[in-house]
Amino acid sequence: MKLLLDTANLEEIKKLGDLYPIDGVTTNPSIIAKEGRGFIPLLQEIRAIIGEDKMLHAQVLSTSAEEMVEEAEFLNDKIGGKLYIKIPVIPQGIKAMKILKEKEIKITATAVFTAQQALMAARAGAHFVAPYVNRLDNIAADGINTVKEIINLFGIYNCETQVLAASFKNVNQIHQSTLAGSHAITANPDLIDKLIYHPMTELGVEGFIADWEETYGKGKKVNNL
Ligand code: E4P
Repeated sequence: MKLLLDTANLEEIKKLGDLYPIDGVTTNPSIIAKEGRGFIPLLQEIRAIIGEDKMLHAQVLSTSAEEMVEEAEFLNDKIGGKLYIKIPVIPQGIKAMKILKEKEIKITATAVFTAQQALMAARAGAHFVAPYVNRLDNIAADGINTVKEIINLFGIYNCETQVLAASFKNVNQIHQSTLAGSHAITANPDLIDKLIYHPMTELGVEGFIADWEETYGKGKKVNNL
């Protein structure tokens, strides 16, 4: 399962990239706008932090296929490395995916709310599809069920396209997506931290240190007894 950070905050990317086995960074126009910085310099700095081999997903803004393709080629030139161009699954987006596939530009189909959108994007050449789990839950639909349906359909039709489940607001949504077999998940840094937090683990570590220091002395470690 691939783990991605859904943020454009450089400090968070450095911090979590140092701690966890992160496979890349996803952004969207809202996430980028939040940083209040120039788009290309920001993406270039993210690329410099994560390196050429990690995935970076960046979204186009146009709503016509031709302009989406122009934006995608521009980003590919400027950012490079393992770059995925995020294209929304609107009809013009699907057309853009077909063109970008021919040009061998990597695609992530985004703003996916149904399994049929995901299947269409896969047929058009998307490498990843990103179902929006929490936004589905928020409209009284079932985000996890959509993830399951997509995985099921991709299995039936032997699609190589992978599921990059996105839009999470709690750990259980991520847990259920991984149980469903999502190939990748992307979440904000706070939620990634919460994935492994458990008070009993914290308590256990504190207890081990206290017992050890009672016998061997404060600050003593296995290599300085
Ligand atoms: C996914 O690629 C999107 O960037 C993101 O996960 C959307 O999340 P939101 O619903 O929290 O905005």
